[in-house]
Amino acid sequence: MSNEETVTITDNSTGKQVTLPLYKPTAGPKVIDIGSLYKELGYFTYDPGFMSTASCSSAITFLDGGKGVLQYRGYPIEQLAEQSSYLEVCYLLLNNRLPNSNELDQFTNTITRHTMLHEAMIRFYSGFRRDAHPMAIMVGCVGALSAFYHDHMDIHNEEHRMITAYRLVAKMPTIAALSYRHANGKPFVYPRNSLSYTENFLHMMFSMPTEEYVPDPLLAKALDLIMILHADHEQNASTSTVRLAGSSDANPFAAVASGIAALWGPAHGGANEAVIRMLIDINQSGKPLQAFVDRAKDKNDPFRLMGFGHRVYKNYDPRAKLVREVCHKLLKDMEATGEQQKLLETAMALEKVALEDDYFVERNLYPNVDFYSGIIFLAMGIPMNMFTVIFAMARTIGWITQWIEMMSDSELKIGRPRQLYNGAIDLDYVPIDKR
Ligand code: CMC
Repeated sequence: MSNEETVTITDNSTGKQVTLPLYKPTAGPKVIDIGSLYKELGYFTYDPGFMSTASCSSAITFLDGGKGVLQYRGYPIEQLAEQSSYLEVCYLLLNNRLPNSNELDQFTNTITRHTMLHEAMIRFYSGFRRDAHPMAIMVGCVGALSAFYHDHMDIHNEEHRMITAYRLVAKMPTIAALSYRHANGKPFVYPRNSLSYTENFLHMMFSMPTEEYVPDPLLAKALDLIMILHADHEQNASTSTVRLAGSSDANPFAAVASGIAALWGPAHGGANEAVIRMLIDINQSGKPLQAFVDRAKDKNDPFRLMGFGHRVYKNYDPRAKLVREVCHKLLKDMEATGEQQKLLETAMALEKVALEDDYFVERNLYPNVDFYSGIIFLAMGIPMNMFTVIFAMARTIGWITQWIEMMSDSELKIGRPRQLYNGAIDLDYVPIDKR
């Protein structure tokens, strides 16, 4: 990041000028450092939704929304999707380099050996109602991890921070699978060290004590790929939430729990569940696809095409392209049911209608990562309310890597945005009997 260039801002009302540094990142738009603006001019900046604001500097993930580029630590997502594995990507994100085979073995071994939960954590589940949304259970349980690893953890200690990352990456599949087992009244299944990361998740989700269960390698591979694609996505709502919560030196498990809460919303990670509900509605309605596209365009109707549009991508989301390919392949290889094929056909037809519609063309609205991922999850036998849980499981490495980066930053300050106040001022209190 160099800052030889500057930008000068003139206050037209006073003629006062302030010169601000302009940083040149390794890639992406230049960034004006407005840190001294308030001191110099007495003004704040106003940017609801952070449309033009870089909230931090980061060396983890790069995306170019115009070109549809996504890179983790400089490696294009397409190469990682084709050649890497989820755990290798976790190593890459955490260590800023690809591991050699010994390092990857060691890392895999460490993650494998942290997958168990404290038995008291397991009892925690029985406090939730059976019909609780698994995301609600996950927020609670990940937050509860802070009660188990608080006293002997020093967030200012580099090694402790890494151990926290290992614990989270290792325990998330166990927490996720137990949420599902609880909701379905099925016996809890412990992790198995002989299985790979995603095989182990499938084992904890689907095996029964009464029968031998062999995870399908096809499903484990597809899930691993989906996990790679969801591993990090720079400063989105949930990641920014983790950073903000963590900036007060809060417990990292609690900070990650706050990220899970932010992810849950249908505008963010909850969209994968919403897409399938929408596709089912479309199929059941018997109405033409254009009717739904027209509803999405109608500003008086809250309906939006779920899985479409993105704050940063104004081009095809590169993750969506990859997920669509996997979806096709998996449904074909698995000889999926007619119902699953029908969902895929509807999704593809809807994409075509939307991409030919002026409204979507003018606004650069393309399918995002959530548009096809739900169909894959359904084909795997994963129920709809678990989709966002899997997103959270995959994104955990991104959240904790971003937290580690923030905690290692010597310039770390507690996050504290300012506001444009537009409420009442200087009122006189009126006693209750006089109102
Ligand atoms: N359907 C219909 N219109 C849309 C859609 C959509 N899915 N997305 C955006 N628009 C319109 C929006 O109404 C606005 O129109 P106008 O300029 O006339 O007011 C314009 O496109 C720009 O949209 P915006 O809401 O200002 O854009 P944003 O950057 O604030 O929102 C978004 C991005 C993802 C929240 C939004 O596109 C959306 O709600 N999409 C549907 C939900 C979804 O799929 N979310 C998953 C996001 S990707 C995975 C993740 O990050 O978790």
